[in-house]
Amino acid sequence: MATEHFDEKAATWDDDGDKERQSGEIARGITAAASPAGGDRLLEYGAGTGLVTQALLEATPGLLVTLADNSTGMREAIGNKVEAGALPPDTRVWDLDLESDPVPEDRFELIVTSMVMHHVKELETVLRGFATMLEPGGHLCIADLDHEDGSFHDHDFEGHHGFHRSEVEASLTAAGLVEVHIGDGTSIEREDGTYPVFLAVATRPSD
Ligand SMILES: C[S@@+](CC[C@H](N)C(=O)[O-])C[C@H]1O[C@@H](n2cnc3c(N)ncnc32)[C@H](O)[C@@H]1O
Repeated sequence: MATEHFDEKAATWDDDGDKERQSGEIARGITAAASPAGGDRLLEYGAGTGLVTQALLEATPGLLVTLADNSTGMREAIGNKVEAGALPPDTRVWDLDLESDPVPEDRFELIVTSMVMHHVKELETVLRGFATMLEPGGHLCIADLDHEDGSFHDHDFEGHHGFHRSEVEASLTAAGLVEVHIGDGTSIEREDGTYPVFLAVATRPSD
């Protein structure tokens, strides 16, 4: 998919102070549901500037971090945070688009993604990719917009107007994941209204 929009936004992404609140709430939900431990391998897909991972590391230092994004600008912003010490020095930064790229061989105890899936056309392909990359017993955590009327995006947008939670549950189950739980993740407050964000957590069954 075209990445220009996020390439342009990357340098000022963190200037919106409310993103820190949103990321913190999402990370707290993930930590409570998935109970990660130091040494677990974490993949954040569509990581942007890595805000959710930064918040996850506050609760669980020692996570082994891989941040993937198909936007050059976002990957540069992540690289700057690694250099500045805001992300661990051994953070891996991947240019990955699971809609079109082969699924990496690497495996993870925890895969998280925040506000990305509504941009993804090939949902089934990407969800299957996540399921493949999870260790048995590992968790996938998806935070994204609840279904909205299309007013959320003010730029050229060909993605999803959020999701109904029932369709998220069905898609995660179809990808082979189990123990699907979906609750409130956070909310995005804007002048034109409040947009609720769900947090879905699912597990790869043991082989
Ligand atoms: C709305 S931003 C969210 C950024 C970050 N996760 C956050 O919550 O602050 C969506 C991010 O997903 C990335 N993205 C969108 N589609 C993608 C795809 N198919 N593969 C990888 N990254 C993608 C964008 O470049 C962007 O950084």
